[in-house]
Amino acid sequence: MYRTHTCGELRLADTGIKTTLAGWIQRTRKMGGMTFVDLRDRYGITQLVFNQEVNAELCERANHLGREFVIQITGTVAERSSKNLNIPTGEIEILVDDLTVLNAAKTPPFTIEENTDGGDDIRMKYRYLDLRRTNVRANLELRHKMTFETRRYLDQLNFLEVETPVLIGSTPEGARDFVVPSRMNPGQFYALPQSPQIFKQLLMVSGFDRYFQIVKCFRDEDLRADRQPEFTQIDCEMSFVQQEDVLNTFEGLAKHLFKTIKGIDIEEPFLRMPYADAMKYYGSDKPDLRFDMKFVELKDAVSGRDFVVFDSAPYVGGICAQGCATYTRKQLDQLTDFVKRPQVGAKGLVYIRFNEDGTVKSSVDKFYSEDDLKAIGKLFNAQPNDLILILAGEKEKTQKALCELRLEMGERLGLRDKNVFAPLWVIDFPLFEWDEETQRYFAKHHPFTSPKPEDIHLLDSDTGAVRANAYDMVINGVELGGGSIRIHDSQLQSKMFELLGFTPEKAQQQFGFLMGAFQYGAPPHGGLAFGLDRFVSLFAGLDSIRDCIAFPKNNSGRDVMIDAPSEIDQAQLDELFISLMSPDPKG
Ligand code: AMO
Repeated sequence: MYRTHTCGELRLADTGIKTTLAGWIQRTRKMGGMTFVDLRDRYGITQLVFNQEVNAELCERANHLGREFVIQITGTVAERSSKNLNIPTGEIEILVDDLTVLNAAKTPPFTIEENTDGGDDIRMKYRYLDLRRTNVRANLELRHKMTFETRRYLDQLNFLEVETPVLIGSTPEGARDFVVPSRMNPGQFYALPQSPQIFKQLLMVSGFDRYFQIVKCFRDEDLRADRQPEFTQIDCEMSFVQQEDVLNTFEGLAKHLFKTIKGIDIEEPFLRMPYADAMKYYGSDKPDLRFDMKFVELKDAVSGRDFVVFDSAPYVGGICAQGCATYTRKQLDQLTDFVKRPQVGAKGLVYIRFNEDGTVKSSVDKFYSEDDLKAIGKLFNAQPNDLILILAGEKEKTQKALCELRLEMGERLGLRDKNVFAPLWVIDFPLFEWDEETQRYFAKHHPFTSPKPEDIHLLDSDTGAVRANAYDMVINGVELGGGSIRIHDSQLQSKMFELLGFTPEKAQQQFGFLMGAFQYGAPPHGGLAFGLDRFVSLFAGLDSIRDCIAFPKNNSGRDVMIDAPSEIDQAQLDELFISLMSPDPKG
């Protein structure tokens, strides 16, 4: 046995017992004739003491131990004179009488501390060292607990975990595929699953009734803080359900995780907001409801006063930031610069201040009387000290910009507290999305999503207006998961493919097996998938999902630790009958 206890285990009540510990050296401090060593393992840190007066030879050896050496010690638990109440083992120390160096270590390239001196790149290159840091490890421990509780909840509801293949054909989630060449089928490629969507629907046809899988998905898309090229879904599907059944089941899972992991009881049902309202009031299909600051549409209220910016804009909308009327010129200029950034895309910003003394001041005083401005204020229920911020322009673009401005104001006002959670379902998404570039409709969710029965008659006449039985769970402005009720009728499915511009041959070629399966008794079914990485990040209060993934990719999709992707041998290419073109030097 290498150890009798872990480094996080011993307490005052253990004083006097003999113990053997093993772990890594966090730091050593020499103070006079005493040498103190912090010994670390996964469970915590225990202080070791070497006393020159008791054993000079042992103390001398301790003085030569370096950071991250792996050692084993035997000693006696003693009460500490200067206690550290910030750590659970802080009231004791070990008076060491035997030391074995199990392995020496090179000096690590950054400090293995919570507040490390290592930048992102170096920590990713030495991720195995980064993972020794308590806060990084805590994220993985949280992830483990969340998957464990997820399995427990779903198992109790009769969900069966079934694995689905990774070497498959193209899946319908709309990103680019990662592909894998097949040696045994020269010139042919597998695609890695963007999700197990098709397989879980086939499992419903097979009668599995309630499926789940905690599963890796692969999407070759541009990366962001909440996107990785390989990420994990809690993927679920149920038979004989309607939308409400699915929402209730997975709202239940979210509540179970809140309760067991965060100790938060959410009793009331999650708010259900139609997509159209989410766009109208928040300019986003994933509104952050930790704060209100709803949009107010102003086109009618502000038109006809010869202010050409408002008169010519198809959309004018604003938000009311409480208590911000004292914003200085400089602060307002900063906000104007903010909305003019290319990522936000507005042309300018109009403000109306409702001063403490009841006067009103605006950047468009020339066009609007004080009474006009007060009437606008009424639409926001503006109070003294409030600041109204207004944007104008093309509708969707301006709503998006106003959404960014709202989030920015929420941030500035401290309304986006990471310890507050505001969950909701966004429902009634449009079934289709029009693409200007290709002049055709795409499935907003995926092509198996069912239209709302009451909208089916619009499929041909007003395609864009058809709503789907599709839903997203959103918490604090993050799309945590999404899903839909599926089409289980092969005629309706063929109609859907037709509207999406698939020829019958192309639909047959890509999804023929699914449509075939639907002819053998497909039950009504639906489901959803949560993004596990996003869920863990939300609970851990992280800014990037990378921090809860053991070995993540960087923003260029690289694993800098193992240096992947990389070139392969000519022999391997030959075996696959692949010849490479030289990349375009202009990119
Ligand atoms: P969707 O494409 O909405 O649905 O994905 C479900 C959830 O997966 C997460 N997610 C991601 N997380 C990290 N990195 C990514 N690149 C990434 N892409 C998506 C999000 C998202 O809400 N098959 C359907 C589900 C269904 O209909 O049942 C699907 O995959 O949290």
